[in-house]
Amino acid sequence: MGAGIAQVAAQAGHTVVVFDTHEPALARGEALVGKNLQRQVERGQLSADRAAALAARFRWSPKVSDLSSCGLVIEAIFENFDAKTALFAEVEAVVAPGAVLASNTSSLSITALGSRLARPAQFLGLHFFNPAPVMKLIEVVPGLDTDPALTPAALALMKSWGKIALTVKDTPGFIVNRVARPYYSEGWRAYEEGVASAASLDFVYRDLAGFRMGPLELGDTIGHDINFMSARSVYEAYFGRTRFAPSVLQGQLVAAGKLGRKSGSGVYVYAPGAEAPAPAFTDTATGRADSSVLIQPSDGRTAAEVAAANGRSVAVLDHSANPAATAIAFAASDDKARAAALAYAAAEGKKAVELADRPGLVVLRTLLQLTNGAADAVRDGVGAPEAIDLAMRNGVNYPFGLFDWGAGYGWTKVVEALEAVARGTGDAMYAPSEVLRKLAT
Ligand SMILES: NC(=O)c1ccc[n+]([C@@H]2O[C@H](COP(=O)([O-])OP(=O)(O)OC[C@H]3O[C@@H](n4cnc5c(N)ncnc54)[C@H](O)[C@@H]3O)[C@@H](O)[C@H]2O)c1
Repeated sequence: MGAGIAQVAAQAGHTVVVFDTHEPALARGEALVGKNLQRQVERGQLSADRAAALAARFRWSPKVSDLSSCGLVIEAIFENFDAKTALFAEVEAVVAPGAVLASNTSSLSITALGSRLARPAQFLGLHFFNPAPVMKLIEVVPGLDTDPALTPAALALMKSWGKIALTVKDTPGFIVNRVARPYYSEGWRAYEEGVASAASLDFVYRDLAGFRMGPLELGDTIGHDINFMSARSVYEAYFGRTRFAPSVLQGQLVAAGKLGRKSGSGVYVYAPGAEAPAPAFTDTATGRADSSVLIQPSDGRTAAEVAAANGRSVAVLDHSANPAATAIAFAASDDKARAAALAYAAAEGKKAVELADRPGLVVLRTLLQLTNGAADAVRDGVGAPEAIDLAMRNGVNYPFGLFDWGAGYGWTKVVEALEAVARGTGDAMYAPSEVLRKLAT
C-alpha cells in the first residue's frame, strides 16, 4: 500500500520520501512504481520524459530521519497497534512541529492511535483502497482529538490528488470494511449450507448481480488469512454482533494454510494448467412448461412455503439486478416446478442454476443483508446513505449503491423480504434495521 500511496502523491505534484525499515521492501516498492509508470507510458497516458521526472520525485530510504522535511506523513506499516504507535513516536521526533501525521489503518481506532501521540490534534486516518493509484475512494477519519480544521484540509488535499474523499466516523471497519461484511458472510454461509457449488455461487453473484467477483473467489484473491482477520477484527470490535460473525469454514481454511491464490489453494485449487471449475448449469432442454406451476421472483420465502400457501407447485427465482444477466437461478418446490423453471429459462434464452430451496436464495438474501447492515451504519452515524453508496461503488467497485438498489426494489418489499428470511431461518440477524422500517413507512 505504501508505494501505491506514494505514487498517488507524486503524481499530484509532491516530492515523496518512502521510508521502510526493510530494504528489500523498498526495492519492491520502487519496482512497483516503475512498472506502474511504465504501463502508463505504454498506454500513451504519460510521456517517457514525464515518467522519468515523476520517478525523480521519489526518495526511497531506510532511515526515519529522512522524513524530517515532510509536511504530511502517511503511515502504512503492518496492522499492529504497538508497532504503529512506536513508529509515530519516532516520526514525531524528526518532523517539524506543524507536520500532519496520518494512518492508513483498516481496523485500528484513530482516536486510540492518536492518544499515544505527542500531538493528537495533528493526526487523522487516511484510508486508501488497494491498489491506491487505481481506487478512487479515500475514507478521511478524524479522531476525537483531531483538530476540526484538519478534516476539511485533508478532504481538499485528497480531492486535489484526484480522489473521492469522504469524512467517516472513527468506528470499526469505517464504512467500506464494515458494510461489505455480509457480502463475504452470506457467500460463505451459502457455501457451508451446500446451496450450490462454489463455482456456481460465484457465477451467480457475477451474472445476476454484476459483482466483479463472487465472494469465494474474492477471498481466494485477497488471501483468506487477511480476509478472515478483517472479519474477526470487525466482529470482535462490535463485541460479537452476530451480523458480523466470521465463517467457521473460512477459519478452517486459514488454519490449514489454504490461503487462496498465494498458497496454491483455497476454495479453489490453483495448480499450473488446472482449469477453473465451471458453474453447474442444469440442462434446460429437459424442462416442460406447465401452466399450473407458479413461477415468481423470490420474496424471501422458500418455494416450499409459497407452494403451501397457494396449494400448487412453485419455482422461485433469485433476484437479478443485472440487465445483462445470462442465467436464472431458481429453487423449486417439487419436480414439476423444477421442469417448469427449466422450460421458463429455455424460453427466456437463459442458462439455469439450481439452488437449494432456502429463504431469500443467494443474491436476494445477500443484497438484503448488505442493505440491512448499511442501514445500521446510517443509524450508528458512520455515514449518510449517499456517502455509503459512493463509498461502496468507489472503494470496492460495487455495481450499484445499496440504498439505490433498495429504493429501486422498494423499501416495503425490502422490509418484508428480510422479515421472511428472519422467520424462515429463525435467525434474528436478518431482522430489518429500524432505518429500513423508517424508509418503508
Ligand atoms: N493491503 C490492503 O488491501 C490494504 C488496504 C487498505 C489499508 N491497508 C492497511 O495498510 C497498512 C499496510 O498494509 P499492507 O498490505 O501494505 O502491508 P505490507 O505488510 O504489505 O507492508 C507493510 C510494510 O511496512 C514495513 N514496515 C514494518 N514495520 C515498519 C516500521 N516500523 N517502520 C517502517 N516500515 C515498516 C514492512 O517492511 C512492509 O514493507 C495496514 O495498516 C493495512 O491495514 C491495507
